[in-house]
Amino acid sequence: MKGIILAGGKGERLYPATIAVNKHLHTIFNKPMIYYPLSILMLLKIKDIALICNPEDENLYKKLLGNGEKFGIKLTYVIQKSPKGLADAYILNRKFLKNQRSLMILGDNFFYGAVLMKEIKKAINSNSNMIFCYEVKNPSNFGVIQTKKNKILKIIEKPKNNISDLAITGLYLLDNNSSKYALKIKPSKRGEIEITSLLKIYLEKKKLKFTKLGRGVSWLDLGTFKNMQEASNLVKIIEDRQGRMIGCLEEIAFNNNWITKKSLKKIINKTKNETYRTYLQRIIS
Ligand code: TTP
Repeated sequence: MKGIILAGGKGERLYPATIAVNKHLHTIFNKPMIYYPLSILMLLKIKDIALICNPEDENLYKKLLGNGEKFGIKLTYVIQKSPKGLADAYILNRKFLKNQRSLMILGDNFFYGAVLMKEIKKAINSNSNMIFCYEVKNPSNFGVIQTKKNKILKIIEKPKNNISDLAITGLYLLDNNSSKYALKIKPSKRGEIEITSLLKIYLEKKKLKFTKLGRGVSWLDLGTFKNMQEASNLVKIIEDRQGRMIGCLEEIAFNNNWITKKSLKKIINKTKNETYRTYLQRIIS
C-alpha cells in the first residue's frame, strides 16, 4: 500500500496568508497542517509516501520533513507544475505507484476519531475501492454521492438542489488502475482533472464503494480561516484535557517501532519547545 498526500494548490480562499506561505505549512494549533494528514497515513502503517507540491514549496517541505527518515518513513517529493486538479496526482505518480494500490489524502483535510482508523483498515482489508463520506449541512459546497441500499447511484459535484447530504471527504482508496484511468480524463470546464471524473470511471465499472463516517469522527476541510480556527480549537481542547497529542509524528513513529529510542532522544535534545520536548520525553519514559 502506497500513500499520497496532496499538498500543492493555490489556497486562494486563504488570501493573503498564502501569498508567501503554502496553506499546508500554516499551523493548526501547535503543528503544521501537513502533520495531521501525514499522521493518518502513519497510523495506518503506510511508510512509502509521495508528497505532491508546487515547485516553489519543495525546499520548505524538505526543511520540515526531510526524506521522512526522522519519522521512519520514506517521502518522495513529486512536483506539480500547476494545480491541475486532484486526479492529476495519479498521473504524476504513475511511476511511484508502479501499478500498486494507494491511499490518497488531501493535505488540507483534518480527520479525528478512533472509529476512522477501524473503518479505513476494514476498507483496506476488503480490497475494495473506497471513498469515505460524511454527512454535511451544506452539501452544495462539496462533491456528494447519491445512494440506494448501500450502493452509490451517482456522484454529483457541488449539487444545486438538495439531492444528498453525503459529502465525499479527501480520502481515496483506489486500486492499481488509478493512473491508467486518470490518464483518460479530459479537463473539466474549470480546466481541472477532477477527482469526481476518476471516481465516476470506477463507478461505471461497478468498482466503487463508500463508507459513511458517523458522528464518532470529526472531519474538516482546512481550506478556510474558519475551519482552521475550529480545527485548532478542537486539537487544543483534546490535547489540554487528555495531555495526549493529535498528529505528533515522532510519537507515532516511535510507537510503530519505526524509530529507535536513541533517535527519539536525539530529536528531544534538539527540541527547544519546552512543551513538545516534555511530551516526547514522557513517551520514552
Ligand atoms: P482545494 O482546496 O480544492 O484547492 P486549493 O488548496 O488550491 O485552495 P483554494 O480553493 O482556496 O484555492 O485543494 C484541495 C487539496 O488538494 C489541498 O490540500 C491542495 C491540494 N491540491 C493539489 O495539491 N493540487 C491541485 O491541483 C489541487 C487542485 C489541489
